[in-house]
Formats: sequence, C-alpha cells, structure tokens
Amino acid sequence: MTATHDVVLVGGGAAGLRAAIEIAEARPELSVAIVSKVYPMRSHTVSAEGGAAGVIAMGDTLDEHCLDTIAGGDWLSDQDAVEYFIGEAPKELVRLEHWGCPWSRQTDGHIAVRSFGGMKKMRTWFAADKTGFHLLHTLFQTSLKYPTITRYDEWFVTRLLIDDDQRVCGVVAFQLATGRIETIEAKAVVLATGGCGRVFPFTTNANISTGDGMALAYRALAPLKDMEFVQYHPTGLPFTGILITEAARAEGGWMLNKDGYRYLQDYDLGTPSPTPVLKSMELGPRDRLSQAFVHEVERGRTIDTPYGPVVHLDLRHLGAEVIDAKLPFVRELCLKYENIDPVTELIPVRPVVHYMMGGVSTDINGATPLRGLFAAGETACVSINGANRLGSNSLPECLVFGARAGRAAAEFAASTRPPDGSTNTQAEDERRRLERLRSRTDGRDRIADIRQQIQQAMEDGAGIYRDHETLAKSADTLGDLAERAATARIDDHSDTFNTELVAALELQNMLDLSQAIIASALQRTESRGAHQRTDFPARDDEQFLAHSLAWREPDSTCRIDYQPVTITRWPPGERLYGR
Ligand code: FUM
Repeated sequence: MTATHDVVLVGGGAAGLRAAIEIAEARPELSVAIVSKVYPMRSHTVSAEGGAAGVIAMGDTLDEHCLDTIAGGDWLSDQDAVEYFIGEAPKELVRLEHWGCPWSRQTDGHIAVRSFGGMKKMRTWFAADKTGFHLLHTLFQTSLKYPTITRYDEWFVTRLLIDDDQRVCGVVAFQLATGRIETIEAKAVVLATGGCGRVFPFTTNANISTGDGMALAYRALAPLKDMEFVQYHPTGLPFTGILITEAARAEGGWMLNKDGYRYLQDYDLGTPSPTPVLKSMELGPRDRLSQAFVHEVERGRTIDTPYGPVVHLDLRHLGAEVIDAKLPFVRELCLKYENIDPVTELIPVRPVVHYMMGGVSTDINGATPLRGLFAAGETACVSINGANRLGSNSLPECLVFGARAGRAAAEFAASTRPPDGSTNTQAEDERRRLERLRSRTDGRDRIADIRQQIQQAMEDGAGIYRDHETLAKSADTLGDLAERAATARIDDHSDTFNTELVAALELQNMLDLSQAIIASALQRTESRGAHQRTDFPARDDEQFLAHSLAWREPDSTCRIDYQPVTITRWPPGERLYGR
C-alpha cells in the first residue's frame, strides 16, 4: 500500500509537532503526516524537567544569551544560528503561552524565570519541574486543531526513499500493532526523532532514544555533524539514570562529596556561597561539573555504591515549602525510585548521558545536503550548541528550529513535483528486507546481548574522558559487534507488536551511530567542551575550530571531514566561570 502526503514528519515530540503546526498554519493546502514510533505524548520531550530559556527579564539582553551559549559551547556554535535562535526563543515561548502552556508565574502574574547552568542571567521559563510534559501537551493539543495533519502513531520508519534525482521523496514504515508495511510518499521529509542517548548504558534518555532519524539520514548518505560531543548531565539517580533536574541546583542545591565538602570550588568554578550565584559553582556548565566528578573519583572523595561512585545533591536547606512549590517532581522521583525524601535526606547522584550536541548536519533552515530532507531538534545539528549545550536551550531549540524546518520543508514541497514512482523498487527491497528479518531463525547472538555490549563499548571508549587507546579499542569492538548483529537471532516472528523486530532495527541504528561517534572522537585530537582527550588536553583552534562531518562510505565505514565554524561577533575566547 502507498499513502501520499506533501510533507512527512518523522517523530512526534516537540520539534515534530511544532513543525507540523507551522506547516498547517502557513500552508493549509498541504497535507502533513506525523509518523511516530510512539504515541506523541510518550515522546522523550515529555521527560524534560527544568525549563526553556528565552530572554524576558528586565536587565537581560539577547546578546548576553548569545554569549553564554557560545562560550558554553566552547566556541563551536555557528553564531548566525545562535543569534537567530536567541531572537526567536522568547517569541516561541510566548506563542506557547497563547496556546495554553501553564508557565509558572511570579506572584504579580509575570512569567517566572529561574537561573540555569552557565547562564549569566535568570532566563529559564518553567512549569514547575514538569516543563517537558506541559510543553508537549500544549503542542499536542494544538496540533489536534488542524485537519491537514494526519498521524501515524506507533509506526516505525525504516528507510528514506530517494529518487533518481537524489531527492528524498518519502519513507517506508511499518505499523507496530499489525506489522503492516507501507510506503508513505512525500515531497519533503523532516526528521525529528530526538537523540541517541541509548547507545550508552547509563542515560536519562527513554528507551526509545535510539537515534532512528540520525541513522536514517546517515544511511541515506547525509552527513552527521559533531557526533563526538556527548553531554553528561551531572545529576542522574544511580541505577536508573533518572534525571534530577538542574533546577534543583538553580533553586539552591549544593553538590557535596563524601566529606560533605562543596568540591566544585576546587575546579575553577568559583567559591561557595549559601545562595546560588549565576555561572558559578553548582551553576557552572554541565561539561565542567561532570569532569569535576571524575576527578573526585580519582581523589577517592566519592561514595561507593553497588551502582558505582556517587556524590550527593543536598536540598535539605531549601525546606519542604520551596521543594514542593518549585521541585515537586524531584521529591516524587526521589521518593519513588530511591526511597529518599530530599527534604530531610541527601540525594545520591552521578553524571549520566543526557544529550547529543551532534546530529544530522543542517543549515539554518533545517535543510540537509540531501534535497527534500530536513531535520530539527536533537536529531539535527544546526549548530547552536557547539561542544556543550547549556541546560534549557534544548526545548526552545525544538520550537524555533521545528518551526523553521517545517516552514522550509513546506516551501520546498509547495515548489517541487510529486514523487514519480521511481522509488518503487527501493520500497519493494525494503519490504523484503523487513520480511526476511522478521522471519530470521538462524543466528547465534541475542539482540539484547549485542545492545548491552555496544553500550559497554561506548562507555569504556567514549565517556567523559577519552584517549586514542580507549577509542580505538571501542572501534574494534564495534566492528566485531556489527558482524554479529548482521546475523542476530530473532525469536518472535509475529506481526503484532513485534518488539524484537523493533529492537533489531534499533540495534542497527545504534551501531551506525556508535561508529560515527567513535570515528569523530578519534579524529578530533584536541579537548573542547564535552570532548575531553586525556592525550590532547588543550583546545586547538588552529586545527579544530571546525565541525566534524561523519559520512557513511559504501563499505559501511565512516569517513570524517571538517567544515568551518561560523564566527560573527564573538571571537574565540576563554571560558570563565565563578568570577
Ligand atoms: O536538568 C534539566 O532540567 C535539563 C534540562 C535540559 O537538558 O535542558
């Protein structure tokens, strides 16, 4: 069967929904499809907690938000994209307000903002500490108003279709509930499937974050940009990896080592003060806080637990009233998952993989080098986040670039001819591949075992600190795992919610992306932001003030080349915190 739409959006989280609404409003004559592996309200956006940055407070300026973002990203951000993003973010957040987002407010009714790591001003809008839930709900309910939007909930996209003119003109997807395989033709496709945190074993990311959109683009020979930059969030709950929001530190939480000492003062992040100081100590950037944790482990100043070493996040001095008003979800999560009440007890935390700065390489319109293919949100690398994203820049990124990519895809679709059927053979090949996979009975390895070994190889090779030896070893391990994955066993041959088939397809995506991350990290022989090479500890602007581009070669290996960073008004400088 073949369905036809003007634009297909792959992914139903914040970026995908925002793109859909933009197209529906700007071009009501176009038919839009949202194809999502999960029901949209289950997208990973739902778990965002702390907030969304946008200049609104008196005394704040767009330029200051730009500089914080660029310095936070260790000067790897494209500054034209950053300026556009920061100018649009407040408008998007007000738009959400008009669509019904229940932003937290001050007592006088004005929007409340909180501080966030690496930011010099308070500019993070929030809805208590369930911002992602409220933002996603607002977008989802708004999207329901438009009759031109059709949803394919719980459909998994497995291939992009590319015609003889090298133009993307649709996807192949299968319905999880029935196993039905369908071609969905379109004049433009927007990828918005979130990140790939699940390639690591310990992550805040939902199980669904397997990088499907990034891998679809990569296999269609679109490059992935800056994949070596993997963000660790400093405060994840041990064992589960559940996020304890940075808002906890913004409200005044302290990071303590095993001696009850606020250890961040030893890492050039400022001096302790009882109340939070912007861009200082606990409000430093995530890369620096996570690196400080590793040094505390090396100095024997962390607490050993069955789930690895931890430090403590102390909220006790905030009191029950503040915690219940500003951080109710933190209390709920600690009680449910750790049996700890942060009102009276210390919270054990450790750094946890949270976000990919890299993604499908796009221009400022969300356009990839493949005609007709666009990307937005964490799937894309525009790039505004450079080598280290600042907390609370990600939700507005989904809104700003979701809208812009949606608009660009709509314009492209409106001015291009419909697919001409020249991809029928590709679609048929894909259908046969899926059917073969579903009925595969041979094979030695279990998918879950290979997945676990990929994750281990990533943690061993590409953690907070890396070097040539660990990266090269992981590259070899991934090569072996790729061979084994090609024949992994599938025991479930059914059509109905075949989660093993989904896992097999996700495994391929995770392998491709892991190899791209490792190859990019191997070739960047410098340290910048979240990419810290112990064998090359200094930043090297001479050679590496450049984005890496990872290209898939015909033999499945990964080739890396570089493209210059766009510098406009903020020449590379030193990152200064705590002063
Ligand atoms: O800590 C947090 O609430 C995370 C926010 C973000 O990643 O933007």
